[in-house]
Amino acid sequence: MSWRPAPAPESDEVAIQENLDSWDAMAHMHAQGSGAEFYRIEQWLAGECKLGPWEVEELGDVNGRSLLHMQCHIGTDTLSWARRGARVTGLDFSENAILEARRFAEILGIDDARFVHATVANAAEALDGEQFDIIYTGRGALCWLPDLEEWAAVCAGLVKSGGVLYLEETTPFVNTLEPKETSEGSFFVPKYDLFNAGPISEIGEGSYANPQWPGERTTHCWEFRYDTLINALINNGFQIEFMHERDELFFDPWPEKFEPSRPNYWRLKEGEVPFPLSFTLRARRV
Ligand SMILES: C[S@@+](CC[C@H](N)C(=O)[O-])C[C@H]1O[C@@H](n2cnc3c(N)ncnc32)[C@H](O)[C@@H]1O
Repeated sequence: MSWRPAPAPESDEVAIQENLDSWDAMAHMHAQGSGAEFYRIEQWLAGECKLGPWEVEELGDVNGRSLLHMQCHIGTDTLSWARRGARVTGLDFSENAILEARRFAEILGIDDARFVHATVANAAEALDGEQFDIIYTGRGALCWLPDLEEWAAVCAGLVKSGGVLYLEETTPFVNTLEPKETSEGSFFVPKYDLFNAGPISEIGEGSYANPQWPGERTTHCWEFRYDTLINALINNGFQIEFMHERDELFFDPWPEKFEPSRPNYWRLKEGEVPFPLSFTLRARRV
């Protein structure tokens, strides 16, 4: 996968449209093409769970509970919760991703799974005011949103009073770094200013699921800080119950620095000084 800087977008709307084009272009490839190996589609269809073991433990029993998965992509995580008994709804702005999620629900015979095509900003309207016991999101979702206050307000309207929001995301600090080759070895150096409110705009070749994929795409990511996320949740009526950081990540940003730790997760290679790579957070709507 290689990236070069792209011009800044004219507006958030333009950025979101370019992001949508990028996700639409990758969805079929992730579900049934050269990215399916990364997504472990074969193993997952055969029964493997797509969720981290800590996610299952920290969210607790979902049996019989209504769960909304915001930014569900091709539905593999959503349907993993359905296999654990949740009544699931997945929402994503990529039509191709939603088509794949519906296809998987049919293959698995999960008839009551529902997949809705909408942006996060339009989620309340698309779901017609429905409220859920659980909102689940993350694993590369929040960086696509220009305004986490807006996101938290949308989530607050979609979860029942007393219900929970649970997410897993990349530790913000990781997004500031990139490895740099020097004569003395490869070192992480800061490349991105987390205090910059604008997006990081890049033209990329490949996908995290297949770095050799020939597609070229323009993306705009609004990398967030912990304070932005936590204050957005607090300001919109959530009480943070816990956060946990881990030295494992749900994708492999730098293959030369990472190695698999378990299915669907990677960690820094032995010899690297470990630092937090991901976190989970649970918040309750008061
Ligand atoms: C990396 S995926 C996260 C889901 C899951 N972890 C996975 O990999 O299958 C990010 C998803 O966010 C969706 N997305 C990005 N911006 C969005 C927006 N503004 N509204 C709704 N969905 C959005 C994309 O279409 C994509 O499916």
